[in-house]
Amino acid sequence: MSIREIRADELDADRFIADQVQAIRDAVGSGLAINALSGGVDSSAVTMLGHRALGDRLKTYFIDNALMREGEPQRIVAIFAALGVTVQIVDARDEFLAALRGITDPEEKREAVTQTFYRHVFGRIVRESGAKHLLQGTILTDVDETVAGIKRQHNVFEQLGIDPQQAFGYKIIEPLIQLRKDGVRKVAAALGLPKTVYARMPFPGPALAARIIGEVTSERLDIVRKATAITEEELADTGAFQYMAILHEDRVTGMRDNRREFGLQIELRCWDSVDARRATPTRLPWETLERLSERILAEVPGVVSVTYAIAPKPPSTMEVV
Ligand code: XMP
Repeated sequence: MSIREIRADELDADRFIADQVQAIRDAVGSGLAINALSGGVDSSAVTMLGHRALGDRLKTYFIDNALMREGEPQRIVAIFAALGVTVQIVDARDEFLAALRGITDPEEKREAVTQTFYRHVFGRIVRESGAKHLLQGTILTDVDETVAGIKRQHNVFEQLGIDPQQAFGYKIIEPLIQLRKDGVRKVAAALGLPKTVYARMPFPGPALAARIIGEVTSERLDIVRKATAITEEELADTGAFQYMAILHEDRVTGMRDNRREFGLQIELRCWDSVDARRATPTRLPWETLERLSERILAEVPGVVSVTYAIAPKPPSTMEVV
């Protein structure tokens, strides 16, 4: 199936919204739909579109998968409460951590997150809710990269020939599939979402699991979560497309208080990009990098090495997993 791209510069956001609201109403009829909100711009735009189309017949859930950034569930619920949208938090932390236990291969890790999300946690919510439709914020870049075999995005099924109805028992509606990130931001702004949401940098579906090389455990998540919070604080004013902290699997010899410490390595990445298809590392001031390094070494236990990635995408990708 080929998808017609709508470029951001040719997008009429209001018309797009009217068309998609109608399409959602037509697809769902008088039934119920549900969606999972991660707080990223894609799922936020979908939540608002679905809410406009269906009102209370759209049930929105925030799945706490243990892989989220600091304070994220509460922050997202509050933002949407202010917009009149009720979001229910589902605590699925143990289920995701159990599914990820012992897995180190990147694609197996993505698969574990996907399966836990769709087949188990979300599948269960859909069955209990009686909804036959799932609204999802897949965008064109997700499809391209998955079909090209670069990286299995967690939200792409039909393009891979997987029938979600057969595999998981529900139909997926993807209102943003013709857009790329810049187009979604225009739509999100036109939907009345605050700038903290529509201008928010992208965050991967597999969340912090995409930023841990090697096994994802609760302890390793805490480390990458702390480093992420510091990185996001320090780089907030750079205007970069996306920035992140990554926890490496290998340890390196360091020293602290005159003693050998075989410690952890954090890699920082900061990207300039328009649509995530290509990206170049931001030329951050040395002082900024130094401050980041100092804070991470002081505030994240066990870290003895901080590096900055300077390879462009391609051949790199933005996340590491
Ligand atoms: P990569 O790492 O492929 O990332 O260069 C390109 C953009 O997509 C985000 N990303 C994802 N987004 N589900 C998503 O919705 C995913 O599985 C996923 N993996 C990566 C990434 O953060 C970047 O913005």
